[in-house]
Amino acid sequence: MCGIIGYTGPRKTTNVLLEGLRRLEYRGYDSAGIAVGRISGEPRLQIIKTVGKIAALQHEVPKDLEGAWGIGHTRWATHGGVTRENAHPHLDQSGKIAVVHNGIIENHRTLRILLEKKGCKFRSETDTEVIPHLISSYYEGDLLEAVLAALQHLEGTYGIAVVHADEPGRIVGARNGSPLIIGVGNGEMLLASDITAMVAYTNRVIYLNDGEVVDITKDNYSICDRHAKKLDKKIDEVSWALGAIEKTGFMHYMEKEIFEQPESIARAMSGRIDLENATAKLGGLNLTKRQLADVKRVRVIAAGTSWHAGMTGSYLLEQVARIPAQAELASELRHRNPVVENDSLWFVVSQSGETADSLYAMREVQRKGATVLGICNVVGSTIARESDGGVYVHSGPEIAVASTKAFTSQLTVFYLFTLLMARMRDMSREEGTRFANALAAVPEMVKETLNQRDHIQAIAKKYYRAKDFLYLGRGILYPIALEGALKLKEISYIHAEGYSAGEMKHGPIALISPDVPSFFLVSDDYLHDKTISNIREIKARGGPVIAVGVEGDTETQALVDDFIPVPKADPRFYPFSMVVPLQLFAYFCALELGRDIDQPRNLAKSVTVE
Ligand code: AGP
Ligand code: GLU
Repeated sequence: MCGIIGYTGPRKTTNVLLEGLRRLEYRGYDSAGIAVGRISGEPRLQIIKTVGKIAALQHEVPKDLEGAWGIGHTRWATHGGVTRENAHPHLDQSGKIAVVHNGIIENHRTLRILLEKKGCKFRSETDTEVIPHLISSYYEGDLLEAVLAALQHLEGTYGIAVVHADEPGRIVGARNGSPLIIGVGNGEMLLASDITAMVAYTNRVIYLNDGEVVDITKDNYSICDRHAKKLDKKIDEVSWALGAIEKTGFMHYMEKEIFEQPESIARAMSGRIDLENATAKLGGLNLTKRQLADVKRVRVIAAGTSWHAGMTGSYLLEQVARIPAQAELASELRHRNPVVENDSLWFVVSQSGETADSLYAMREVQRKGATVLGICNVVGSTIARESDGGVYVHSGPEIAVASTKAFTSQLTVFYLFTLLMARMRDMSREEGTRFANALAAVPEMVKETLNQRDHIQAIAKKYYRAKDFLYLGRGILYPIALEGALKLKEISYIHAEGYSAGEMKHGPIALISPDVPSFFLVSDDYLHDKTISNIREIKARGGPVIAVGVEGDTETQALVDDFIPVPKADPRFYPFSMVVPLQLFAYFCALELGRDIDQPRNLAKSVTVE
């Protein structure tokens, strides 16, 4: 959510800032702005802000705008409407200090009253604007000192970048709850909330922790805590290449990411299947065999799509490893004062590793003594660092706001973990081998399903005008139905509900009419016949039915209006193949409706507010 970029160095600063903001666009935002310091003549900050897209901002920036350092921001409004005045950067009274901020200053009202009493005139409705005024009230010629003094008064979450017109080439940043990363270049330095904003310039980064403050110039950086105590931190090398964040021929990132799934799933399992011992190897768990054997229960914390992955994982763990497991909505769990038993193992699943709900829920259960393992995509993200161990899913950057490839990679990690735990319990070597082989075959199964692209597009053209959809599945396909409905809602804005197919008759069946199509996920396992009965219940009431079913399931095919086949496989693995048509269907409906697919309205890639 929202983004920060700062640059100091020899390149044309506006270009680096605008390019960085463009790369941050995917995170979701409503307005943007930059502050660029002038190097010749009277020291001055030049501020340009707009509501809307980066292209609009770019349009406003004079071609010859000079400057050798500056900061930029994409805003996702929390306090104050989406207006030019509320867009960042915000300035102090003198106009010499500029601040960009991600997060929420919780005590902004009190601070505002105090500052207004001292004569500060506020120009926006944001919580952020107290920060430049506060820094200014402490400024005596050293930006770092003034920022440190101001931080003592700020409560809430922030990632900030600050510049002063009289201190050319210097940027001070601070982090508390919103990500901030230093990009270390050769004779140039960057500061950003997300590495995608800087991979074009450097792959050497330093992740800041909460409570840390950074001071950069083009040749130097120094990091300290809020009490000015110097800190030594290591530089990490990131492996994401620029190509990984380009669209490479696809119309949208979402389409590209859907089609990348055979490779991203293969990456998630690479080196982690031990065929010889018919088990899985997960290096990062930081748990001994004894500790794993003692686990009596698994609980998963997550939000949105990651929650659906956690729920699928929980069904699987219970079914295959016979370990009771439950997925919890992070936003609920945190405020529920959860019971943390000492024989439970907790997971937190988060693509971005920055989701505030998941992060705070994780901290809460950790406080109560839980061991929490992270399943994250973004390396070095806050959840990845604060969890007690974990597994990276290695999807590569996921740029589209709607999550697709990260989901199937998260599933992969749960399948690996299930294999590991099951083999430590009752699963035989033979059964382990079968499971491991079926898992290894998943990329191929997903690849074959992707061949249904044109067929699915034709079905989307037939149904995209519908106002409501039901998504129905049973057992391990129930969370996949939830995921299908979420995808459709997110990017096409068509109302969709995911339901357990068995629960449908307890209420939602009242919605059925010729105008309300239902999507069914039909396995060929023990639930096949029960699901068929549910389809009949809908057909009997005139509801159109689209089914994703197993190749050769002529019974289902004959019954429904449209049928999308997936290759026959071990039924426990259908979540992988059956989610793909749902992703594509949502994508093609959104395409027909002319939606902003990669950046749907009101949504953000990582939701860093509660
Ligand atoms: C996915 O399509 C959504 N945009 C959203 O539900 C997302 O999965 C959720 O916000 C959790 O994000 P995370 O995985 O980065 O924690
Ligand atoms: N709370 C600030 C605002 O509303 C920052 C929002 C953001 O993180 O973009 O302006």
